[in-house]
Amino acid sequence: MEKSNLIYAKTNRLILRHFCLEDVETFYKYRSNPTVSQFQSWENYKYEDAESFVNKQIALRPNQPGTWFQYAIALAHSNELIGDCALHTLLDEPRIVEIGFTLAPEHQGNGYVHEAIGALFTYIFHTLKKHKVIAFTDVRNEKSIRVLERIGMRREGHLLQNYMSKGQWVDEYQYSMLQSEWAER
Ligand SMILES: CC(C)(COP(=O)(O)OP(=O)(O)OC[C@H]1O[C@@H](n2cnc3c(N)ncnc32)[C@H](O)[C@@H]1OP(=O)(O)O)[C@@H](O)C(=O)NCCC(=O)NCCS
Repeated sequence: MEKSNLIYAKTNRLILRHFCLEDVETFYKYRSNPTVSQFQSWENYKYEDAESFVNKQIALRPNQPGTWFQYAIALAHSNELIGDCALHTLLDEPRIVEIGFTLAPEHQGNGYVHEAIGALFTYIFHTLKKHKVIAFTDVRNEKSIRVLERIGMRREGHLLQNYMSKGQWVDEYQYSMLQSEWAER
């Protein structure tokens, strides 16, 4: 099967699938939006950056130690790209993975990321059989904090000046979910 047809998880409204070349335009549109990049490391995101990012993702396979793999979040009924969620398989301890997520502004406020992350957790713990999921967020990123707490992740640490963002050191919270905690929910 073509990798671009690969679907990793499904919900009522969404699919988590492999990126494909047709995603570049939409991906560029939301990645280059200043409200999306406000708490992220990148700025002045260019169309060529999006092209190279999507091409790199198309060539990757998920769950390779030391790499970030990006799952495209698409509407189930139309296959339209609306955002992405990422999985970083740690190099030294691949049973622990880090996640991240982004949603195009026009699709925010509908619970899509909550739904996508729920499906991603089931995939991470049941299919990939991981032990622990972690996530870092800028302490000022209230929307991201709400996503992490709504899905039931525990705030495990407040890391002072842990990240260089746009020329400034910023504090981050670390959130976690153990496989055993997910199973008990
Ligand atoms: C972080 C980010 C993905 C959150 O997007 P979001 O749309 O707020 O998150 P969800 O899709 O889960 O939607 C939740 C919101 O929809 C509302 N909602 C509406 N219908 C809903 C439904 N059926 N189910 C659940 N929530 C629903 C919720 O009340 C919630 O709003 P609230 O936070 O004001 O209470 C988004 O702000 C973003 O892309 N930011 C830029 C990238 C970024 O900073 N990522 C974080 C890096 S770790």
